[in-house]
Amino acid sequence: MDRVKGKVAIVTGAANGIGKAIAELLAEEGAWVLAADIEDAPGEATVAAIRAQGGQAEYCHADVSKQDDVQHAVALAAAHNGRIDILVNNAAYLDPDFHGVLESTDREWRGCIDVALLGTHYFTKAALPYMIAQRHGSIVNVVSIQGMEGMMTSVAYTATKSALLGYTMSVSYDYGLHNVRINSLCPGPIQTRQGADPADPHYQWQCDQTTLGRVGEAREVAWAALFLASDEASYVNGVTLPVDGGWTSSSARKRG
Ligand SMILES: NC(=O)c1ccc[n+]([C@@H]2O[C@H](COP(=O)([O-])OP(=O)(O)OC[C@H]3O[C@@H](n4cnc5c(N)ncnc54)[C@H](O)[C@@H]3O)[C@@H](O)[C@H]2O)c1
Repeated sequence: MDRVKGKVAIVTGAANGIGKAIAELLAEEGAWVLAADIEDAPGEATVAAIRAQGGQAEYCHADVSKQDDVQHAVALAAAHNGRIDILVNNAAYLDPDFHGVLESTDREWRGCIDVALLGTHYFTKAALPYMIAQRHGSIVNVVSIQGMEGMMTSVAYTATKSALLGYTMSVSYDYGLHNVRINSLCPGPIQTRQGADPADPHYQWQCDQTTLGRVGEAREVAWAALFLASDEASYVNGVTLPVDGGWTSSSARKRG
């Protein structure tokens, strides 16, 4: 309890899945949370669930790829008490039908670049002045193990996630002296609406790529995000943290 007590946090893509779990956990640990998303009904539901548990949260419709939406969201969060302590850039364009180079479309490339990469940049750019002024801030970028290694037929997603690791390292270099930390968190296969159905052979294949032999839960990613967001990670800056059940820990897969 109270690991981020009194802090103001923004979580993008907080209506569903990993973002929702992060928003809920930050609120449980005492933060005031702005849940930003484009899916309003589930976003409002995230906030209602947080409030029902005694937490503090507000929902904001914000498309991370639109700078006006981002400015509005950050201003709304800052209006709470003038601070932005934590920013979790979690939203991504998740097309169910990603492709390799030859079949990839401009739509999927633009979606990946505009939402995951530029969306992260817009929110970071808008939140940084507050963090610099207060000489304190933590930014957590939810990336993917697909930023760390290649995977089949998803070139736009992989390239964009990989770029986010570079973005994180660059920002960590530039703003560390302002006591603003930024880190990348790389989930492996996590059971969200984007995950494979347990009846699908791909699901078992994913389990077999991990050393723990299973798919993870959104809450397990949220625990890692909470650590990076909190002052417990006060000397952690610019790292890439896999939360992947061991997927990336061995070049030779343990099973399958
Ligand atoms: N689920 C996994 O196995 C997995 C693995 C690795 C990385 N990730 C990453 O975790 C993050 C969350 O994924 P998830 O599985 O929870 O997906 P999800 O679809 O459950 O949630 C994504 C949320 O982002 C929101 N969103 C999409 N575009 C947006 C935009 N333009 N502006 C604001 N919000 C937007 C969606 O409305 C949704 O609420 C993503 O960055 C994803 O790449 C997920």
